[in-house]
Amino acid sequence: MSARISASVFTSHVPAIGAAMDLGKTEEPYWEPLFAGYEPSRSWMSENTPDAIVLVYNDHATAFSLDFIPTFAIGTAAQFPVADEGWGPRQVPDVVGHPKLAAHIAQSVIQQDFDLTIVNKLPVDHGLTVPLSLMFGQPDEWPCPVIPVAVNVVQYPVPSGRRCLELGKAIRRAVEAFDDDLDIQIWGTGGMSHQLQGPRAGLINSDFDNAFLDRLVSDPEALSATPHIDYVREAGSEGIELVMWFVARGAMNDLAGGASPTQIHRFYHVPASNTAVGHLILENAG
Ligand code: DHB
Ligand code: FE
Repeated sequence: MSARISASVFTSHVPAIGAAMDLGKTEEPYWEPLFAGYEPSRSWMSENTPDAIVLVYNDHATAFSLDFIPTFAIGTAAQFPVADEGWGPRQVPDVVGHPKLAAHIAQSVIQQDFDLTIVNKLPVDHGLTVPLSLMFGQPDEWPCPVIPVAVNVVQYPVPSGRRCLELGKAIRRAVEAFDDDLDIQIWGTGGMSHQLQGPRAGLINSDFDNAFLDRLVSDPEALSATPHIDYVREAGSEGIELVMWFVARGAMNDLAGGASPTQIHRFYHVPASNTAVGHLILENAG
């Protein structure tokens, strides 16, 4: 038996969601509907905890700065400390990596012509820890190892949706070529519509977001051709984070000739801080 990708999880990553959890505010009227939308996900996850997660996220000038900007990077360390984003690190567990599988994915994906940057020292910010908190709650340690895959969506030029989809396909091939019998999930995070600065700060576009969720499930190849300018125009400057969802979608069976995934859960909620929150779980057959 080799490793295989069993499911993909898609979720937004707003820092205020992490703060709401850390400060015990999840029952407050503002937050209650948001966390209610993740209840089905947490119960599904408790039955379907994988052996490891490939977590596609973006760093927000925390580990990387304008000094160097990798387009795609993979964390190969045994441990990833929780980053201090200016208010001290969140009081959540450090993230345990999977160096053996990460090194294998790096080898395989680079040989498939994707130039991943290898990162051996990587403090992880809300882009990675908030999705973990949403899916797992507040455990003393995260239930499985995580391999961070960082995508630059902060400083232009950022990669295209199509390139992200193809990277997902390459990661799937890499996972399937790993000899250990492992159940792997791949998560695509960030988005949905939001803009944090300028005259359009606070922009939300529910029609765009819901059409994106529909087409991500039903027609990801065509959706991945959406040009950057359409995200900026329709989904705000930070809506471009959505290209990261294509990496996870590209790793699903149907894009390698297999059956369409089952949609386990879909949720959409506005607002969370300045962001529209979208969430999907797709499961591969068998
Ligand atoms: C917010 C959203 C983000 O994606 C982010 O990285 C920081 C802040 C927000 O909505 O406040
Ligand atoms: Fe962000």
